[in-house]
Amino acid sequence: MAQIINGKEVSATVKREVAEDTARLREEKGLKVGLAVVIVGNNPASRVYVNNKKKACEEVGFQSFEYALDENTTQEQLLDLVDVLNRDDRVNGILVQLPLPKHIDETAVINAISPEKDVDAFHPVNVGRIMIGNYSFLPCTPAGVMRLIESTCTDITGKQCVVIGRSNIVGKPQAMLLLQKNGTVTICHSKTKNLKEICLSADILVVAIGRAKFITGDMVKEGAVVIDVGMNRDENGKLCGDVDFESAEKKASYITPVPGGVGPMTISMLMKNTLTASKQQAGIE
Ligand code: GUN
Repeated sequence: MAQIINGKEVSATVKREVAEDTARLREEKGLKVGLAVVIVGNNPASRVYVNNKKKACEEVGFQSFEYALDENTTQEQLLDLVDVLNRDDRVNGILVQLPLPKHIDETAVINAISPEKDVDAFHPVNVGRIMIGNYSFLPCTPAGVMRLIESTCTDITGKQCVVIGRSNIVGKPQAMLLLQKNGTVTICHSKTKNLKEICLSADILVVAIGRAKFITGDMVKEGAVVIDVGMNRDENGKLCGDVDFESAEKKASYITPVPGGVGPMTISMLMKNTLTASKQQAGIE
């Protein structure tokens, strides 16, 4: 039976570290840390995420600046706002909540954010920095996954790591981070053949495919570390991950639950990135 990785607990530790560092910065250097969060339209899930981000800012002692824009905001208006935020010294990090309404080109907006304030690490410059292993911030979800793996004291070096999903936000950067820790990494996706066989080779299995309970216990190697990035609803409307927890926990050595696993980490890593951004902008790191 697997040990459950408590994402809430690890996330609380990260936030505590960020809060202590933020208080020290304020006392010793008179610096304040600020995050701007931009939301366009009325997507209810985005609203919840943005509220959680604001709440986390309060918890760690950041200033938060919220810009809630109308659904009909034009791309030009949004780009103008990004330009203002890029030049605003109170703002160390800029987060434009995705998805954006269909008439706005997300890539154009991401590309307009100053890489130094891009705390999501979505800008091509930051993506490139991750590729060459010389980065300031990591995308929040893969960074949270790494911290959860670290919390199990698993040494990644030489391990078979399988990442299921190839998104720009999770799968691709996740694979790079595991590679940088000397894992032997395989990326699988919806077109992969022999998925079960590959999964069964995984010492570390990270699943981010967006399909409810897709990975079942018979696809998990005995003793594997299983990290579930998914957030879905099952047939009864209950929150569930991409992994069938009940059958997988019988095989894994460590496993994340949904909810309470990767989810809480994403926001605490965003706080950590914002703190890093503020230090870099002040020339401290
Ligand atoms: N929408 C869902 N997840 C995220 C995220 O991590 N960052 C942003 N900007 N939008 C999101």
